Amino acid sequence: MPISTSKAEKRLIAAEARAIRARRLLEVGCFKGKTTAVLSRVAHENDGYVVAIDPMRWSSRPANMPEWIDMVLHPFSYERAFWRNVSREGYPERVHLERGLSTDEGLVYSGAPHLREFDFVFIDGEHLYDAVLADFENWGRRVRAGGKVLFHDCVGRFPEVIAAVRDIVEEGSLRYCVRWPEAATIAVLEVLEPSTGNDKTATAGDRTREDSHPLD
Ligand SMILES: C[S@@+](CC[C@H](N)C(=O)[O-])C[C@H]1O[C@@H](n2cnc3c(N)ncnc32)[C@H](O)[C@@H]1O
Repeated sequence: MPISTSKAEKRLIAAEARAIRARRLLEVGCFKGKTTAVLSRVAHENDGYVVAIDPMRWSSRPANMPEWIDMVLHPFSYERAFWRNVSREGYPERVHLERGLSTDEGLVYSGAPHLREFDFVFIDGEHLYDAVLADFENWGRRVRAGGKVLFHDCVGRFPEVIAAVRDIVEEGSLRYCVRWPEAATIAVLEVLEPSTGNDKTATAGDRTREDSHPLD
C-alpha cells in the first residue's frame, strides 16, 4: 500500500539530514518521489546526490481512489509522476533513479561509486520483517560513522517493521544510538564514531529515549 510520508515526517527527515549536512543520501522505496524531492533539496544544499531505489511498478494494492484511477490510467509505471514531483518540489538533476528492487543482486553487488557509502539512508520499501532486515543489511550498513539510518512506519499498523528494527537494535553489532523523535512513526538510528575507550555513552546498543516508543 504505497503512501507517502506526512508533512511532519518530511520536516523531520529533512531536519535529520540537514543536521549532518548529508551529501550522499539514499531512499529505498520512493513511490512517486514526494520524499525524494525533499531529500534532493538537502542534497542540493550540500552539493550531493540522492540515490532512489524503486521498481517504479505497481506492486501492491493502491491506498485510495486517486491511486486506483492513476493505476488504471498508467498501468505499467508511476515513474512519470515520480519525475513530475521531483521536478516540481526538488532537484531532479541531483537524483539517480535505480529502477529495481533493493534486493536485486546487480544493484547490491554493483560496486558503483555512488552506491558504496552513504551519509543518510531512509528505508521505506516493503514493510515486511525480512525485507526491512535485508534493506538494513544491504544498505543501512553502508552508512558511515556519524551518519543516520531512518526507518519509516515504525507503528502498530506495521508490526513487522517494529520487530525488524527491534532486532536490529538488539543484535548489537553496530555502534549506534536509536531515537524516536516526537512524530514517533520514524526510528532514527545514528551510527556512532568508533569509541575512544572512555566514552561511556558510545557502547553498542545504546538507546536514547526522546519519547515512549514501540520497542518497549
Ligand atoms: C510506502 S511506498 C514509499 C513512499 C515514499 N518513500 C514516499 O515517502 O513518498 C513503498 C514503495 O516501495 C516500493 N518497494 C517495495 N518493495 C521494494 C523493494 N524491495 N525495493 C525498492 N522499492 C520497493 C513500492 O513499489 C513503493 O513504491
